[in-house]
Amino acid sequence: MSELSDRTAVVVGASRGLGRGIATALAEAGAAVVAVARGREALAELAEGADRIRPEAADATDPSAAGTLVDRYRPDVLVLVAGATPQLRPLQHHTWETFSVNWESDVRIAFHWLREALLKPLRPGSRVVVISSGAAVAGSPVSGGYAGAKATQRLITGYAQEEAQRAGLDITFTAVLPRITPMTELGRPAVRAYAERYGMTEDEYIEQLGPLVTPEIAGAAVLELIGSDAADVAPAYLLTGTGLRKLP
Ligand SMILES: NC(=O)c1ccc[n+]([C@@H]2O[C@H](COP(=O)([O-])OP(=O)(O)OC[C@H]3O[C@@H](n4cnc5c(N)ncnc54)[C@H](OP(=O)(O)O)[C@@H]3O)[C@@H](O)[C@H]2O)c1
Repeated sequence: MSELSDRTAVVVGASRGLGRGIATALAEAGAAVVAVARGREALAELAEGADRIRPEAADATDPSAAGTLVDRYRPDVLVLVAGATPQLRPLQHHTWETFSVNWESDVRIAFHWLREALLKPLRPGSRVVVISSGAAVAGSPVSGGYAGAKATQRLITGYAQEEAQRAGLDITFTAVLPRITPMTELGRPAVRAYAERYGMTEDEYIEQLGPLVTPEIAGAAVLELIGSDAADVAPAYLLTGTGLRKLP
């Protein structure tokens, strides 16, 4: 029996990129994985031949999707990965709408799903992982409100932990902040934009990043976190190509 064979994991934003790596790692570790994303085709392709992955097409910003799926699956592990791709342009070239896209997506998703995890509540021993971004610490000057939105995801993950403790719920919430990586659809244009801004070629920019975060590394990081004693799990971690590092 695999270590996660009696657990159900819901991965929100599972059809590509880091979320796909996380969903695949959880399924390979034996969990029953509910893979959530909007695009049905990519979800169906992910689930094909993977009998532990069940696709659920839904818009995770919709509060009723969060409520319905948490009720239906009562996950032991909930991973929030989904996020919008920001417009890459200097501040003065943003409109309020382009500036706030990650607030309307990433922050909204964290807000609705963390609320549901607390209200349900998830079972004692459950783990919730929110994928924020290294930009939450380092900033991201060509991505409008992205860095602030990702910092807010980290903050509200901490608020959820505090509320769980106040209510005596044994649920562990943690935020993971990956470094920028060209290995996903969201990361590739960002790497291109930063290379251009700093007068580097893309290869030069990638080179100075050091070991890259990949979907597989993100999957291994989530497995490591849910396999750790709850008492040892920090409120937040930086994720680089060499793995997780606790943040103060
Ligand atoms: N790549 C990087 O450099 C990097 C660095 C730090 C942090 N991050 C963060 O890591 C997370 C994943 O990034 P990624 O690079 O893997 O992105 P990605 O390749 O664009 O994948 C995003 C995933 O989320 C899903 N998704 C997006 N909006 C959704 C919604 N409203 N409802 C349901 N599913 C939704 C997408 O599927 P559909 O479009 O079909 O819904 C897709 O499966 C994001 O939160 C991002 O901010 C990325």
